Formats: sequence, C-alpha cells, structure tokens
Amino acid sequence: MLSLRNLTVAIDGKILVDNISLDVAAGDSFGLVGPSGSGKSTVLRAIAGLVDYSGEILFEGINMKSLSNLERAKRINMVFQDPYGSMHPRHTVARALAEPLIIHGMADRQERIDQAIAEVGLTGDLLGRYPHQLSGGQRQRAAIARALILKPRLLLLDEPTSALDMTVQADILDLLERLKRTHGLSYLLVAHTPAIVARLCERIGRMENGRLIPDGC
Ligand SMILES: Nc1ncnc2c1ncn2[C@@H]1O[C@H](COP(=O)(O)OP(=O)(O)O)[C@@H](O)[C@H]1O
Ligand SMILES: [Mg+2]
Repeated sequence: MLSLRNLTVAIDGKILVDNISLDVAAGDSFGLVGPSGSGKSTVLRAIAGLVDYSGEILFEGINMKSLSNLERAKRINMVFQDPYGSMHPRHTVARALAEPLIIHGMADRQERIDQAIAEVGLTGDLLGRYPHQLSGGQRQRAAIARALILKPRLLLLDEPTSALDMTVQADILDLLERLKRTHGLSYLLVAHTPAIVARLCERIGRMENGRLIPDGC
C-alpha cells in the first residue's frame, strides 16, 4: 500500500533520513522505534508532504508527489505527538473538524463530524470547546477524529500517546486498535515503547542515525 524507496531527507546539508526503503501492506501496520533524534518524525513528515525529500514515496504504486492535496488527504493523514500540532489553540473542536471538509469542499459536513466524534468516543457537547478546555486524552481523541474526517486508509502516528498519563495511554491504544480493526486502517506508527508497537503493528523497524535497521516483531 505504502512504499518508501530510497527515501532521503537532507536539511542544510545534514542527512536526517538516510536512504530508507520500507513497505506497509494494506491492513498491516509498521512500527518505527529508535532513539530520539534518529529521524523517525522526519520520515513521517516526508510522507505527509511537510518536508522535501529525494527517493520515492508511493501509495498503491502512485507517486505521492503527483497527488493533489485532497487526493493525498483522502489516503493518508497524520496525528502528532502533541495534539496542538494538529489542533489550532484558538479553534473549537467543531471548527478543527470542519476545516478539512471545507477546504476540500466536502458535502454532508455535520454528518461526517458527528460520525467522527462518535467513532473516537467523544460526545457532541465537546464540539464547542477549545483544545485547552479538553483533557489530554480528549484532545488526542479530537486530533484522531480530525485525522479521520476525510476517511484516509493510512494514518501516520507520531508517538500518539507519549504525552499522556499511563491510564489515558491505555485508552488511546484501545481506540487505535479498535479503529484499525473496524476500518481496516493501516498505521505507520512511531512509538517510544516497544510494547505499543507490539500491540498495534505487524512489523517493526528500528531507526538509528537516519538509517532503518529491520527487526522482527
Ligand atoms: N527542520 C529541521 N531542520 C534541521 N534539523 C532538523 C529539522 N527537523 C529535525 N531536525 C533534526 O533531525 C534529526 C532527526 O529529527 P527527528 O526526525 O525529529 O527525530 P526523532 O523523531 O527520531 O526524534 C534531529 O537531529 C533533529 O534535530
Ligand atoms: Mg520524533
């Protein structure tokens, strides 16, 4: 489904991601682990189109660079470690969820928003709140709802639970596991503990100094 071919990211002459190739099969998930600064987030940012790269990123054989923003967002979306990465602090949850639908001219907005909110276990009364009026877990659920609003097939998850308390981490992992099962979603997941990857991913790779070292799972 997703194929990285010799993905390399260099910024200011420094190689952050060094010639990585990997495949994520449909319905499967791939976990990236490795020390801080090894380039994990940069891989996700390249796939999300947020940094320039060399090599190829293919989605079902189609070069991601040839897709429009809408075509890309309908396939792949990203959830950041810190929900403020995906949620504007001065936008309500309703606005955060409506925005991708408005930008891409989608109809049946309210229906999609209600569905997304229910799917991540939030209630409609939270729609009028700002991110700082939510708990950490609610904020990450809202960020996941936003990432799902265009019904992508693959989510890029960058340490989606590492900013949360242990009990809330478990709730979000349950949610991600359920979404994966019910929607046949695939994840490319960066995790700070191997247990998270073991639970959600069929395959694991370890990154060190921008390189990918394949691993068993
Ligand atoms: N925009 C950028 N400009 C320059 N260096 C960056 C940029 N983004 C990340 N880096 C550097 O790239 C390396 C990899 O970062 P990152 O992908 O965030 O690692 P990880 O997610 O594994 O902790 C780090 O040394 C980081 O400081
Ligand atoms: Mg990171």
